[in-house]
Amino acid sequence: MDAPLSPDAPMDPIAAVTHPDPYPHYATWRDGPALAWVPPRGVWMATRGDVVRRLLATPALRVRPVTEPVPAALLGRPAGELFGLLIRMNDGPVHDAHRPAIGQALAGLPLPQVRARALALARAQAGRGTLDDALFELPVQAVAQALGFAAAELPRVAAWVREFVACLSPLAGTDDLNRAHRAAESLMARMTRLVADAAPHDASLLQAVQAGGGAQARSARPLIANLVGLLSQTCDATAGLVGNSLLAWARHGAPPPDATPPAWIEEVARHDAAVQNTRRFVAEDTVLEGQPLRAGDVVLLVLAAAQRDPAMNPAPDRFDPERPARQLLGFGHGPHACPGQALATLLAGAAVQALREQGLDREAVARHAGRYRASVNTRIPSWET
Ligand code: HEM
Repeated sequence: MDAPLSPDAPMDPIAAVTHPDPYPHYATWRDGPALAWVPPRGVWMATRGDVVRRLLATPALRVRPVTEPVPAALLGRPAGELFGLLIRMNDGPVHDAHRPAIGQALAGLPLPQVRARALALARAQAGRGTLDDALFELPVQAVAQALGFAAAELPRVAAWVREFVACLSPLAGTDDLNRAHRAAESLMARMTRLVADAAPHDASLLQAVQAGGGAQARSARPLIANLVGLLSQTCDATAGLVGNSLLAWARHGAPPPDATPPAWIEEVARHDAAVQNTRRFVAEDTVLEGQPLRAGDVVLLVLAAAQRDPAMNPAPDRFDPERPARQLLGFGHGPHACPGQALATLLAGAAVQALREQGLDREAVARHAGRYRASVNTRIPSWET
């Protein structure tokens, strides 16, 4: 279902994720039915703002198929255990037990301090590797730093996170899966030690999550897994936001030189979403948006199309950092809405600022050949040939 189609195959919402310009296609699909059947992919697709918003909040749709809470390819191995404990991948008890602590800890982050530390880290790193690598390294290392990892460990932790997240994609091969299992094991072991060694007075993100988790849950495996989950949720999505922000800089003009304002980054997140779509699975036979659906059906919620719906954001194709009352769906909505939106915006702003300060050439960024990393949902530009 998820294999990349050949370049001359008809456009569909999975091919759209990595297409140089999917937005005219999204506009056409928004004029179609509320739920449209996509024959080559075997999924239902929703592209309108009101429909996507409603479906993200309906309990009839689950984040995982009822019959396969953990993908069969991961079952019984370390990446499968980690996957199965993540709030992102659960409805019900695991989500309800750990979502509040994660949400409160992220909401309580002292953003100016986090920004200053992330900028210092980004300044120290910018220019070291390729631009493609910088998209990933800066945000994940900044979150690892906020959790309380020592500076010397940040590159190793970031490498494990990238290896683990590869298994979340249906495009992962056997080697990717084997690396992901080893990385999941290392991340769980290292996070367990970090939790055990943390002093109660540390003002880290880790302490904030633990404080909200209740005394019994402090070192429990689900909590450890969801601390790792903060890193894995950051990885590809924020890389996409940094990359798409650089493209917006090249195409639409510079943000102010001293700092990249959150509203400017938020407009990038609306105009060219990093997470283009997310999936939901029908729990039992039902009717949604007037369409009968069967248990096990897959519904693709095209967040990137929904937030370009003119009914949500007037003149949606215009890049307008000053846009009043911007409506975002690219960070989700409802019970699984992203609790990291403010942090992600801040990290992307710091990364863009540091890269520009290091002399990143706008012309070089503009020479992007329209290539994106292979993915079924995340839009991450690549400048490598
Ligand atoms: C540009 C960057 C990011 C984007 C576009 C993004 C987007 C999203 C989206 C769309 C969801 C909901 C998925 C769904 O409902 O199917 C989500 C969930 C989540 N995100 Fe983010 N995210 C970003 C960065 C971050 C960061 C930096 C963190 C934390 C450090 C984070 C933590 C989470 C968590 C924990 C969830 C699961 C919430 C739940 O299931 O209750 N995200 N994100």
